[in-house]
Amino acid sequence: VTVYVPRDSAARSVGADEVAEGVAATAAGRPIRVVRTGSRGMLWLEPLVEVATAAGRIAYGPVAPEDVEELVAAGMLDGAEHRLRLGPVEDIDWLRDQTRVTFARVGVVDPLSAEDYTAHGGMAGLRRALSLTPEEVVAEVTESGLRGRGGAGFPAGIKWKTVQQAESALKFVCCNADEGDSGTFADRMLMEGDPFTLIEGMTIAAWAAGAQEGYIYIRSEYPDAVATLRTAIEIAYTRGWLGRNILGSELSFDLFVRVGGGAYICGEETSMLESLEGKRGMVRAKPPIPALEGLFGKPTVVNNVLTLGSVPMILADGAEAFARHGVGRSRGTQVFQLGGNVARGGIVETAFGITLGELVEGYGGGTRSGRPVRTVQVGGPLGAYLPTSRFDLPMDYEAFAAANAMVGHGGVVVFDDTVDMAGQARFAMEFCAAESCGKCTPCRIGAVRGVEVIDRIVAGEDRPANLKLLNDLCDLMTEGSLCAMGGLTPMPVKSALAHFPGDFGTTTEEQR
Ligand code: NAI
Ligand code: SF4
Repeated sequence: VTVYVPRDSAARSVGADEVAEGVAATAAGRPIRVVRTGSRGMLWLEPLVEVATAAGRIAYGPVAPEDVEELVAAGMLDGAEHRLRLGPVEDIDWLRDQTRVTFARVGVVDPLSAEDYTAHGGMAGLRRALSLTPEEVVAEVTESGLRGRGGAGFPAGIKWKTVQQAESALKFVCCNADEGDSGTFADRMLMEGDPFTLIEGMTIAAWAAGAQEGYIYIRSEYPDAVATLRTAIEIAYTRGWLGRNILGSELSFDLFVRVGGGAYICGEETSMLESLEGKRGMVRAKPPIPALEGLFGKPTVVNNVLTLGSVPMILADGAEAFARHGVGRSRGTQVFQLGGNVARGGIVETAFGITLGELVEGYGGGTRSGRPVRTVQVGGPLGAYLPTSRFDLPMDYEAFAAANAMVGHGGVVVFDDTVDMAGQARFAMEFCAAESCGKCTPCRIGAVRGVEVIDRIVAGEDRPANLKLLNDLCDLMTEGSLCAMGGLTPMPVKSALAHFPGDFGTTTEEQR
């Protein structure tokens, strides 16, 4: 019997290791194979145990270590009924209704099994890419409509073309895995659950751009992802998936993991490049863009984990298959992450165009506390707070921008009606003050002044004058900051003020 237990750190944090050991020990005497997979992304059901049966993989969850003995006695290894039995895992509506493209293998395969990887379609994308010219690969990525999943949504094909056309004997591919946004965890889950996909995506990028070396910059808070990727890279070398003449082609590409130092700003691409060069993570002025002068001044592809992780499928199945999903200029699928005060938190990979309400109320099932949802913050700590009246908004870069919000890296954090929005606005400024790299004045000093002025508004001190000051300060930070840190901090502040003026002791009219 084969039993699958996740090795994802979210599952491990609630006892998956003990469950896996328990299953192996309890089933002594019976030939049993425990395979450690990534997580299916249904985090409220972790640890989720799956048993291979003639009727497919049957799921049980959430399984506490102390449930194991009873489950095995009840016939779990044969897929028997039990109060924790969820049925065939692929039929659980939460999973069944998703469109898993980037996450197709996560939770299914053993992340460190090269055999599993190729048996589930792995390396088909790289093989096809190597049969095409670099120009043809760039064209395929451009036609797919893939946009940067780190948050800014810049077309990946255009970025790759810029690097490809740059004249240089040395070029790099850097993967930004410094996933710092609050409520986001998709990069981590892909790296832990299907690391070869990222390796394959980076190798395709290297072929397209003409790069010889790659770096994956992973935040230090992700030790499991670091360990998994390091092992996966070693395996990839032994398979001829990395190194000299990859898969018998003329491509040679070396890949390294580097661990970040714990600063949010190192997720900003130029700051990440400074950190990769061994320097303090300070933002560089753009231009020059990294595509032309990036790591060590050389042309560099910098993409997020999910962007690079989407590439193998695009090459394997063709641009058309990817572009078929989505709305408007937001093509393909996005890996949304539901977190905060939510009943069913986790990964929802689906085509762009699903509404915010469908995500939060449908997949998320409302709040975990059972109280009414009051607001959701989309796109990390620099994203807007949206009220439930905007639950009709489709998840689409342009629709969000038109609503003074952003999709960002796809994180959705839910709050119930006990949230204090003035406190949240203050937190945005506090966060910026703490995480500012200090290079430019609007952010370095503006954020500190922002905390003070919000305190004065809440205390009721000369409210009209202080509200005007806060608005002026927000405009200055938006227009005068060197990077998105200072430039986007006003977004949560202004959205909180616009949608929840009462929490600041003001009204919409007074703000005018
Ligand atoms: P940006 O709009 O300046 O740049 C986007 C990307 O396009 C960059 O890689 C840039 O180098 C590239 N680019 C721009 N023009 C180009 C051209 N002509 N040719 C080739 N490449 C070009 O945005 P930025 O500052 O890189 O990112 C801001 C976003 O980051 C925010 O919208 C936010 O959503 C997101 N973010 C994500 C976090 C996370 O944890 N994933 C954390 C914080 C912010
Ligand atoms: Fe540094 Fe903030 Fe200026 Fe960005 S906006 S360069 S984080 S001081």
